[in-house]
Amino acid sequence: MLVWDEDVKPLTTNADAARHARLPHDPQPALRLAQASFARVQARADAAEHARATAAPAQRRVDAADKRIINGHTDVNQLVPFKYRWAWDKYLATCANHWMPQEINMARDIALWKSAGGLTEDERRIVKRNLGFFVTADSLAANNIVLGTYRHITAPECRQFLLRQAFEEAIHTHAYQYIVESLGLDEGEIFNAYHEIPSIRAKDEFLIPFIDAIMDAEFRTGTPAADQKLLRSLIVFACLMEGLFFYVGFVQILALGRQNKMTGAAEQYQYILRDESMHCNFGIDLVNQIKLENPHLWTPAFKAEVRALFEQAVELEYRYAEDTMPSGVLGMNASMFKAYLRYIANRRATQIGLDPLYPSEENPFPWMSEMLDLKKERNFFETRVIDYQTGGALVWD
Ligand SMILES: [Fe+2]
Ligand SMILES: [Fe+2]
Repeated sequence: MLVWDEDVKPLTTNADAARHARLPHDPQPALRLAQASFARVQARADAAEHARATAAPAQRRVDAADKRIINGHTDVNQLVPFKYRWAWDKYLATCANHWMPQEINMARDIALWKSAGGLTEDERRIVKRNLGFFVTADSLAANNIVLGTYRHITAPECRQFLLRQAFEEAIHTHAYQYIVESLGLDEGEIFNAYHEIPSIRAKDEFLIPFIDAIMDAEFRTGTPAADQKLLRSLIVFACLMEGLFFYVGFVQILALGRQNKMTGAAEQYQYILRDESMHCNFGIDLVNQIKLENPHLWTPAFKAEVRALFEQAVELEYRYAEDTMPSGVLGMNASMFKAYLRYIANRRATQIGLDPLYPSEENPFPWMSEMLDLKKERNFFETRVIDYQTGGALVWD
């Protein structure tokens, strides 16, 4: 029977084995067998020790210093030890901001939408164009994360954030669907807008190649060209999709809310803006960390290419702004959006280490930054706000 606290002594030591190996006389057969057996065991132990010492990081216990955002070899199933604490902190922050669309009361929006004089035609066009873009945009975002980005990221704390982000994209698609359903809009018209409305289609056609590039089953990182392809897609996704293409829509619906119109929709957009702001910041941190770990990717030619993509995206989003509001409405006009988009593009560019693209653009909508602070705005729309930060309210029995 095995006794776990029995003091088991080794048969011999390395020094003993070496001495035996040098014995000048012919030992007894039993002793020779024992020596041979020991030599085999010792050889296996030495080989195992050598293998441990020279093993690739994937076969060793995870050392945080070995972790890499891309092309890492540490075990992606082991969340800790943390290396990228910023990713974990952002994961916790997004969880603390949890919300669900159906918790927001849409009764006032429905009454306003259905009343003949409740909204102008320009305001109705804004709502429908907004939903036309967003009902599919967040599906693109979710698919990009789950089927593209996730498998190329080798830091588990970053993957943890991406999992949460993917769920939030599902919540956003849910929110837009909930608004469409609540208002009784033509689902065929709204959900097909990304095929049928040129200003929306143009934005999606700009994005899709960068999503397809990393969703391609054959695509692997590990060469400078492939790593640049991933980095380019991450920049387009964080800085230009979540960081720019969403903002005309956010401003427009939140401007309606500030005038006490479509307050339920505006409240949902406010939550979404907060989520997207976190996604954008996480994506920028990811890009900057990849740059830090792979400085050879950040070439002058690559930077010039990224700047050109920024300029193209600003132009596309401006055309979308013009299309959504051909005449001035809600105290805003298309030229204010031109200034706003340039202001945001400058900000995104500097966040990833590029020079500003446009000289001295000012923010024409300074109130937008206040929209991120939901505590300050808690009673602004006079609708119910769930505060998920009070997790202690859960009682299991
Ligand atoms: Fe989203
Ligand atoms: Fe997002």
